[in-house]
Amino acid sequence: MPGISAVVPAAGVGSRMQTDCPKQYLSLAGKMLIQHTVERLLSHPAINTVIIAIGAKDTYFAQTGLSEHPNVRVVLGGATRATSVQAGLEAVTTQWVMVHDAARPCITHSDIDALITHAQSHDDGALLAAPVRDTMKRANAQGRVAYTVDRQALWHALTPQMFLTQTLKQALIQADDTVTDEASAVEAIGGQPVLVPASASNIKVTHPEDKWLAEFYLSQQEGKS
Ligand code: CTP
Ligand code: MG
Repeated sequence: MPGISAVVPAAGVGSRMQTDCPKQYLSLAGKMLIQHTVERLLSHPAINTVIIAIGAKDTYFAQTGLSEHPNVRVVLGGATRATSVQAGLEAVTTQWVMVHDAARPCITHSDIDALITHAQSHDDGALLAAPVRDTMKRANAQGRVAYTVDRQALWHALTPQMFLTQTLKQALIQADDTVTDEASAVEAIGGQPVLVPASASNIKVTHPEDKWLAEFYLSQQEGKS
C-alpha cells in the first residue's frame, strides 16, 4: 500500500510526570496532549494511517474522540514501549512506517518532511535527532567525573523514527524488550540509521516542567507547520 503509516506508542503511565492521569491525557493549550500529537501526524499529506497503542487499563482514550477518525486504528499496547510498538506494527500495511511518541506534541511537518526524505534514501531508515549542547561527563560509581566525553559526535535520539516496515519488525523480534527507541533495535541487527537534525522544540513531555515548555512551543507554532 502506498503512503506511510505512523505508529504512536501511548500505553505508558507517565510515572516521571507525577500526575494523576497518564501524561498523554494532560490538557495542553485546550486539547489533550495526544490529540495535538496525532493531529499533526494525520494532517501530514504523506501519512495515511495512524495506529495508536493504548494501555489495557486505559480509561481516558475514549474521551479523545480519536478512534472515530477514519484514518486512525487503535491496538492494545504492552508492558514496555518496544512491545507497544510491536503491537502497532501488526496493523501496518504500508511498506514504510514511522514511530512517534505520543508524548511529543510539538513535532512539525518540516521535520517530518526531512525525516521522510532521508529515510527513503537509506535501507536502514532514519531518525530525528538533536546535537548534544552541554559538555558531557561520564560518571564513575562514586558519582565523580571519570572523564569528559567528546560531545561533537553525540546526539539525542528523538522521534519520529522511520524504517522499512519489514526491517523494523525483524529488528524488534530480535531486540531486547527494554530498547527505548526503534533505531537501537535496527542497530542491533547491524543497521546504521541516518541521524536527521531536528528542531529542539520536538521535546518529549517527561517531567512536570515540560508541560509549560510544550505549551509555549505549541503557541509559537500556531498557524505554521
Ligand atoms: N509507552 C508505551 N508503552 C509502554 C511504555 C511507554 O506505549 N509500556 C509510550 C509512552 O506512552 C510514550 C512513549 O512510549 O508515549 C515514550 O515513553 P516515556 O516517555 O518513557 O513514557 P512513559 O513510559 O509513560 O513515562 P515514564 O517512563 O515516566 O513512566
Ligand atoms: Mg517510560
